[in-house]
Amino acid sequence: MRKVTILTLIASFFIPTFVVANEVNVFNARHYKADGELYSKFTNMTGIKVNLINGKSGALEKRIISEGADSSADLYITADAGRCGAMDAKGTLQNGLTSAAIKAAVPKSFRTSKWVGIAKRARIIYYSPERVTGAELSGMTYEGLADPKWKGRLVIRKSSNIYNKSLVASLIKNNGKAATAAWAEGVVANMARTPTGNDRAQIMAVAAGEADIAVANTYYLALMLSGKKGPEQQAAAKKVKAFFPNQNDRGTHMNVSCAALVKGAPNKANAIKLVEFLLTPESQEHFTNNTFEFPMIDGVSPSPLVVNNLGLDFKQDMKTKLASYGKNQAAAVEVMTAAGWK
Ligand SMILES: [Fe+2]
Repeated sequence: MRKVTILTLIASFFIPTFVVANEVNVFNARHYKADGELYSKFTNMTGIKVNLINGKSGALEKRIISEGADSSADLYITADAGRCGAMDAKGTLQNGLTSAAIKAAVPKSFRTSKWVGIAKRARIIYYSPERVTGAELSGMTYEGLADPKWKGRLVIRKSSNIYNKSLVASLIKNNGKAATAAWAEGVVANMARTPTGNDRAQIMAVAAGEADIAVANTYYLALMLSGKKGPEQQAAAKKVKAFFPNQNDRGTHMNVSCAALVKGAPNKANAIKLVEFLLTPESQEHFTNNTFEFPMIDGVSPSPLVVNNLGLDFKQDMKTKLASYGKNQAAAVEVMTAAGWK
């Protein structure tokens, strides 16, 4: 009788009294409904439950920072490498996104050991083919946006916008801070109006004749053309053309939606598995067809709306490390603010 009791005691000591849940917690700032379907597929395949915590990037970042080492977040998924880079600078991320599958899928300049690109986008120039000639655009670069020939003809959103912060950070990386400060002054002098509205509003302004050129991300034109944003935006999108800058030098400025591994992630292994899943051809096709982003991996085609209206045949900047967007973010804000960029 006593023997049994001791054995039972020993056995109970080694049997865990609770079972760790097979899950992964994703703090998600991407505002695409279709992403949810992708996470369901992952759960069906692996049995790993995805707890999706949706929110605005600022709110999610605050929560991750305040939870610190006790973070409930495993992955932070957001649009823009500048956001992932800034979170890294704040010490909220950890190493671990270095598996062979991730390294094989994502080119070096589009990842670090703490965050990786999961879908690409380019920030490009849209123009009115009625008011902008081919000769004017020939050899056009981001640097050329400061050329006085564009005086009163350019629209671009506010300096507080993360896409602009990253674009300007990339210019600082390539041309230095002093040159970029002078450039920002030229850009402000060329603005057709005080910056207002989102990327689609810039395209709308060119369509309405308020400006001749606009800076906006690639997927917005396809989104407008798809009709998902209504007939007015669809009609406006048809009135502009896309131009990919810096084709004769480093290539067009690229950015990503990124997945970052949070420090203190309670389900680190599952988080890595989920990132690997997001980089499979199946997931990549899901992204390109629903969000009109460019695939992160080779061998997957963008949406036909992107291929037919923006084209594929452009040189991407594969050299400028996207980690520089976070590193140069403060300097980018400084030069834009000094130039009076609202
Ligand atoms: Fe966006």
